[in-house]
Amino acid sequence: MTDSKSNPPVPSRDRTSLSRRTFLKGGVVTGLTTAAAASAASARSSVTKGKAATQLKGRIAISLNINGESKQVAVEPRTTLLGALRDHMEPPMTGTKLVCDGGNCGACTVLLDGAPAAACMTLALDATSHKVRTIEGLGKPNDLSVVQSAFCEDDGLMCGFCTPGFIMAITAELEANPTAELDQLKDACAGNLCRCGTYPQIFDAAVRAAKAGLDNKGDK
Ligand code: FES
Ligand code: FES
Repeated sequence: MTDSKSNPPVPSRDRTSLSRRTFLKGGVVTGLTTAAAASAASARSSVTKGKAATQLKGRIAISLNINGESKQVAVEPRTTLLGALRDHMEPPMTGTKLVCDGGNCGACTVLLDGAPAAACMTLALDATSHKVRTIEGLGKPNDLSVVQSAFCEDDGLMCGFCTPGFIMAITAELEANPTAELDQLKDACAGNLCRCGTYPQIFDAAVRAAKAGLDNKGDK
């Protein structure tokens, strides 16, 4: 196993490579190369949705499945899932953080049907067909999940803005691959950045959680 105090993860924009501004303008498809055909196809689909969404007016009542509960909200078509969580829920769900608002930092990572996704790059309307899990759906302050406890044990945060995103990404990886080792855990967090440079402690915590094994908190 690799020493977690070396080889900090290389930040990756693979999780999403489009800014929302470009995404909504719908002009990016022509700039994509054929070498990225698979990702271009996905982007094309998203851009089409974005253009259609911006043409709609007013708010739309939608139902989101958040942490196993059905939540009714009224959002504009351009509202992101992150905006819906933070600004339209009652009470507001501010555990998912807004940092770059452009798909670059991973602070807003939530799970859609178990897979990490940037909530700032996902339209709320597009999330209606998925099960959304947020940091609030894991442990509670007096009953933390295994990954949350590991972050506390290993002091895996400073300012904490990146922390929910890392915890969601690591949780998703360990649910999919309970025997994940350090390199796999780093790969799982390739889309997450920590401006405070807490990577050694974050990955100590990830390895600690992997060794402990997940319980079923938030497993919805
Ligand atoms: S990736 Fe969404 S806030 Fe940075
Ligand atoms: S703890 Fe501050 S950005 Fe990671």
